[in-house]
Amino acid sequence: MTTLEVRGLTKRYRIRGSGSLLALDDVSFTLKSGQTIALVGQSGSGKSTIAKILTQLERATTGDVLLDGKPIPRRGRGLRHYRQQLRMVFQDPFASLNPYHTVRHHIERPLELDHVVPRGEVDAEVRRLLELVQLDPTQTIDRRPHELSGGQRQRVAIARALASRPSLLVADEPVSMLDVSIRLGVLNLLADLQRQSDLGVLYITHDLATARHFSDEIMVLHHGRVVEHGPADDVILHPKDEYTRALRDASPDPEKHFAGTDGGRA
Ligand SMILES: Nc1ncnc2c1ncn2[C@@H]1O[C@H](COP(=O)(O)OP(=O)(O)OP(=O)(O)O)[C@@H](O)[C@H]1O
Ligand SMILES: [Mg+2]
Repeated sequence: MTTLEVRGLTKRYRIRGSGSLLALDDVSFTLKSGQTIALVGQSGSGKSTIAKILTQLERATTGDVLLDGKPIPRRGRGLRHYRQQLRMVFQDPFASLNPYHTVRHHIERPLELDHVVPRGEVDAEVRRLLELVQLDPTQTIDRRPHELSGGQRQRVAIARALASRPSLLVADEPVSMLDVSIRLGVLNLLADLQRQSDLGVLYITHDLATARHFSDEIMVLHHGRVVEHGPADDVILHPKDEYTRALRDASPDPEKHFAGTDGGRA
């Protein structure tokens, strides 16, 4: 069991010429393996800032991120371990894959960096990961990103994220750039992989319907503050916060949205 604790996270961005902007204000939550938390909120509410701090693309102004009770080490083996344990899937599968490199290269790199399997087994492991994300290895392994569809590219990004065998995954709007017709397929794949590997997932989205369907808990961010956090059904059916109610009333009815599946949670 892996536990990620976020405590009192504050992020102030310096803005050239106009002071600063408080993007996160005292954010705290705990994510455990096996659990999916949806992080929802309007554009600019600070969702990606949380993702960037967790993946260390940004540094928090104050507050702590603890993995199994220990702060993220600044360097060395401890930092490598943290990066292996927590992986990210980005919104734009085109921008996150290098256009000059093949699918094989993208997935091989984390396998080699984290010494996941012995050298002689790297090729077989790349193929296993492609099958895991429901891509035909023979068809896709030597292609470059532009030779794949958007959905296929996002599947490669997911395979790459899982290559290091992480315990935790941060998915920042993983399907919002994909065609509506294939979004549910990619989200279902993520949910299957989450269950198979007992992953802890932070699922960042604008979409309350999929947040409810795919998550145990929903956390609502408004102007950088967590205004509501609780079991997914409670947050949707009995929102305590006015802002959550407004968000819910502005979004499609999840029951209708999933009519034809099971009408609710999987
Ligand atoms: N590097 C940066 N420098 C200055 N301000 C930033 C920077 N990154 C983000 N911001 C600001 O911080 C706030 C939160 O941004 P963030 O990207 O976290 O929002 P978000 O909830 O992910 O929005 P969206 O739903 O549009 O992706 C916004 O006001 C944004 O303009
Ligand atoms: Mg964002």
